[in-house]
Amino acid sequence: MHALPEQTPALIRLRDYRAPAWRVETVELDFDLGIEATELSARLLLRRDPAQQLPLQLDGENLQLLSIALDGVQLPATAYRYAGNVLEVDGARDGSVLETRVRLRPAANTALEGLYLSGSDEAGFLLTQCEAEGFRHITFFPDRPDVLSCYRVTLRADRARFPVLLAGGNPDGSGELEGGRHWACFVDPHPKPSYLFALVAGRLEKIERNYVTANGRTVQLKIWAEADAIDRCHYAMDALERSMRWDERTYGRNYDLDVFHVVATHDFNMGAMENKGLNIFNAKCLLADPDSTTDEEYRHVEAVVAHEYFHNWSGNRVTCRDWFQLSLKEGLTVFREQSFSADMNSAPLKRIEDVSLLRRAQFPEDAGPLAHPVRPAQYSEINNFYTATVYEKGSELVRMLAGALGQAGFRRGMDLYFERHDGHAATLEDFLGALGDANGTDLTPYLAWYGQAGTPRLKARGHYDAARQEYTLTLAQPAPGKGTAEPRPPLPIPVKLALFDREGTMLPLRLDGQTSEPASEIVVVLTQTEQHFVFGHVASSPVPSLLRGFSAPVILECDYTPDELALLLGHDPDGFNRWEAGQQLAVRAYEELRDGAANSHALDVWRAALASLFHDTAIDDALLADLLTPPGEIELAERETAVDPQRIHQLRQRLQWVLAERLGGEVLHRRYRELAAHTTIDMDAISQARRRLKRRVLELLNLLDSASAGELAAAQYHDAPGMTDRLAALTVLLRGDAPQAALALLDFRARYADNALALDKWFAVQAQVPGERALDGVLMLERDPGFTLKNPNRVQALLGAFVRGNPSGFHRIDGAGYRLLAERLVALDALNPQVAARLATAFNGWQRLESQRRDAAHAAIVTLAARTGLSRNLAEIIGGVLN
Ligand code: ARG
Ligand code: ZN
Repeated sequence: MHALPEQTPALIRLRDYRAPAWRVETVELDFDLGIEATELSARLLLRRDPAQQLPLQLDGENLQLLSIALDGVQLPATAYRYAGNVLEVDGARDGSVLETRVRLRPAANTALEGLYLSGSDEAGFLLTQCEAEGFRHITFFPDRPDVLSCYRVTLRADRARFPVLLAGGNPDGSGELEGGRHWACFVDPHPKPSYLFALVAGRLEKIERNYVTANGRTVQLKIWAEADAIDRCHYAMDALERSMRWDERTYGRNYDLDVFHVVATHDFNMGAMENKGLNIFNAKCLLADPDSTTDEEYRHVEAVVAHEYFHNWSGNRVTCRDWFQLSLKEGLTVFREQSFSADMNSAPLKRIEDVSLLRRAQFPEDAGPLAHPVRPAQYSEINNFYTATVYEKGSELVRMLAGALGQAGFRRGMDLYFERHDGHAATLEDFLGALGDANGTDLTPYLAWYGQAGTPRLKARGHYDAARQEYTLTLAQPAPGKGTAEPRPPLPIPVKLALFDREGTMLPLRLDGQTSEPASEIVVVLTQTEQHFVFGHVASSPVPSLLRGFSAPVILECDYTPDELALLLGHDPDGFNRWEAGQQLAVRAYEELRDGAANSHALDVWRAALASLFHDTAIDDALLADLLTPPGEIELAERETAVDPQRIHQLRQRLQWVLAERLGGEVLHRRYRELAAHTTIDMDAISQARRRLKRRVLELLNLLDSASAGELAAAQYHDAPGMTDRLAALTVLLRGDAPQAALALLDFRARYADNALALDKWFAVQAQVPGERALDGVLMLERDPGFTLKNPNRVQALLGAFVRGNPSGFHRIDGAGYRLLAERLVALDALNPQVAARLATAFNGWQRLESQRRDAAHAAIVTLAARTGLSRNLAEIIGGVLN
């Protein structure tokens, strides 16, 4: 038996959902802001559900209650009870007004949930984070997303210390107060749940722009940041404007307030937050300039700005009934964000990036002890469910629905969804219902996807009948839910496909019984455990291209020969499937190396195919860079049962060496010089693609000849016009253990001493040096004056990069990596439970390690689990991991 954490926390279950017994029609909040202490009064107009005769109970955590009045009368201590994070009040009726006054301690709030301080006591600013359950750290309230209220917020503070006062909604007056103080008031006309409340107060600079919506509203867009960062907000402003236009064009959605504020903070637990009218961003998802931001990060900023903006409809105007429905807003908004990014940049590259992320982050989650359905059935701490499954797999489910309905049908469905549920809290059933109703179709079979954990497998096999000129494709899904108590129905799995002849030409598809014109690509939907799809008039044995564009989030098993994969890699016009064929071929090559196979056919075919693509002038540089990159170490580990991450690293290095060898040092050098000759700082697609390929070529050269790659990298570091080239060079220097690395590191440290986001990269790149030596590096970096456990980005940059981004470094055979993580988790948990819990998920997958590492990991986790006083957040993850 495993030791379970001391206090096994209570579980909240979906099936226990009850509509709220009390609602709040209007909320008036009045803040007296201060760093050490803030006081606020809340005035709630209450509505009682006549069907439920329950006492008034409000959530409230760590609140110092100063006074309480009901309908204008101060309550005696006998008329209310505050215990166990619940305030129960006697005597409330429908229409009663409850007024409470509480005191908060923002500067002491290291959990960064509720009202807290970003930065130092002297220079920092105040802000809030309420999703999911932060509002109860601010005031007493039914803190659940199905209670929607209209907010009026007044902020009062010292003018010199807090010159800028912001809250969600439209501004509704401001003015002076005695003693150098001032006030500002905000009214939000749109009813919203408490998790969308926000305020910001302090010394901030802004950039602004007017935007006129498609339906004619002039909106002031304002992006706020501290003085040293305001110049890095222009890219986000452009991205915001693009997002707004795109949502008007693509979904017919207009913005609905007169102002839209965006604020950057360096102290944030997550990426960003869609508070109504006042989005708050982790600075790393908002700030961008060429000197400190990589191309990848630029795209990330654009995507997150869009994501939070899109939430205004998918999340705010239509919100979630309860937190089990989290993917209703997150999966949908990630899907909208991904579609936007695909439109703004290259669609196939975006798809490759998204599927890579899904495989790297979500598949392992779904295969391990923390696996949960996109709509979980239960949780102890909701913050632990902001996961790749809810977000990324959730997006894949929306993508399937969109694919099933087609572009126009999906738009019709979304229009109905927004119209029907505007101003309300909805469920996933509501979503599928609206999409289906608008199209006269029943999508409820897709609900099964939301209710089961695990990545489904799809088996495909083809049979060609030359005499009948028929090709039969058999698709099967191994009975889902096998081994569980109730066998579950098969999932609908849409498979987009094409057939190629052996010359690489796409064949017209005539599916049995289908009368319409033959198409070159179709979607078949597997709805049974096994189905046959028969194609007629097929002149020769074809090669199928399956699951094009990754049409369903499954693991495809299909017995391709290496030559068939090479054919798809060479010819498939679907850029995603082309890459996918290359990935599968690389896996075969990897397995030959791993197994010491006598035959290296896959390896030969793989490197020959890539060598020929390397000289193909028609291919996009960025796609080529991706084609030249084999699946990552985490993905490779997913295919094994006794995982040795260090061996996987070595084999993958060897695989890349073989490729570099085949391409040849000469050729790589020449290509590098050509690409380097075009070095610019421009952000257009071609310049970005060149930088990406240049990096890949340099990495391959580094495997072949680290001395000369070191020279090139040192020069590249020195001459780099921007962060993309600079960081790529630094990485190569470190990985190759180049003599020039030390100097470059010193230079980088000094150059970015005052730039937290750039400095994060300095920590991360060192934490990710592969192999045993990484751990000593981490211990040394922890002593750098720039390191602190109090800043989530810094923790992520050093510890996160080590435990999650460096498998061969973290999984030391002596278990020192596991012990380090366990120890840091204890310290971190005392400061910030959300960040600790997220970091702890790095223990996921320990059961599949080879035995020595498994034992060491187990010992570290058990020791941690045995500690008393762990947060509910961390206890749930540790308990889950041990399951
Ligand atoms: N809704 C935010 C988003 O855009 C995530 C905020 C989650 N915050 C948290 N503490 N769990 O995805
Ligand atoms: Zn979101």
